[in-house]
Amino acid sequence: MSNRDYHQERREYQYTELTRDELSSDPFLQFSKWMDQAIENKIIDPTAMSVSTVDLSGQPHSRIVLLKESDSNGFVFYTHYDSDKGQQIADNANAALLFYWPQLDRQIRIEGQLEKTSKQQSENYFHSRPRESQLAAASSVQSRVVPGRKTLNQNFALKEQIFEHTDVECPEHWGGYILKPNRFEFWQGRPNRLHDRFVFTKGTSKNNQAWSIDRLAP
Ligand SMILES: Cc1cc2nc3c(=O)[nH]c(=O)nc-3n(C[C@H](O)[C@H](O)[C@H](O)COP(=O)(O)O)c2cc1C
Repeated sequence: MSNRDYHQERREYQYTELTRDELSSDPFLQFSKWMDQAIENKIIDPTAMSVSTVDLSGQPHSRIVLLKESDSNGFVFYTHYDSDKGQQIADNANAALLFYWPQLDRQIRIEGQLEKTSKQQSENYFHSRPRESQLAAASSVQSRVVPGRKTLNQNFALKEQIFEHTDVECPEHWGGYILKPNRFEFWQGRPNRLHDRFVFTKGTSKNNQAWSIDRLAP
């Protein structure tokens, strides 16, 4: 590969500012406010987020998934429990989420622990999906090596046959994870690389689980 550099690929960040005064004292509310603005601004895939997990050797792995629900307990996405990420989460529940919305010069980092959602919650979401997505979830062995595209189509057709006259069953190996956060960071790009960064850290003592807020140097 020829040597390349990307030094000229730069721009100024100047969409707006983030001040301590306008920051909500509740990081979940701050998240919803920014997500609402991302949706209003017609960001493509505003709910797409990177999820990073770590395997037993300490190697991190990142991939994009779609945020499907959020409330004051945490952030939910749906996937295959026997995928690579599912194995990593079973071994180590620590994980990090990342949203980046370039049109708003914003990044949100969220860290915490992942837990499986209840079977009921997974089923509720599964049955709300288009039938083809249900069949795809039921037929895929996510993260495993397959001989070719033909295998994917055959497995899909097989599930179509099995569920021809019935609802597609939510497979045992498919469902949600909820990330319960202990740290959030809201990053607003600013001119001259003097970005605004505010971090929320959850108190760890039994008597104090309140969120503390600090501004970080960019
Ligand atoms: C925009 C986008 C959305 C995605 N959404 C999901 C999702 O919600 N759930 C999921 O399991 N994989 C989703 N994927 C695929 C994952 O990035 C990844 O390929 C898959 O989950 C397997 O990851 P793993 O082998 O590390 O377990 C999405 C990929 C992209 C690019």
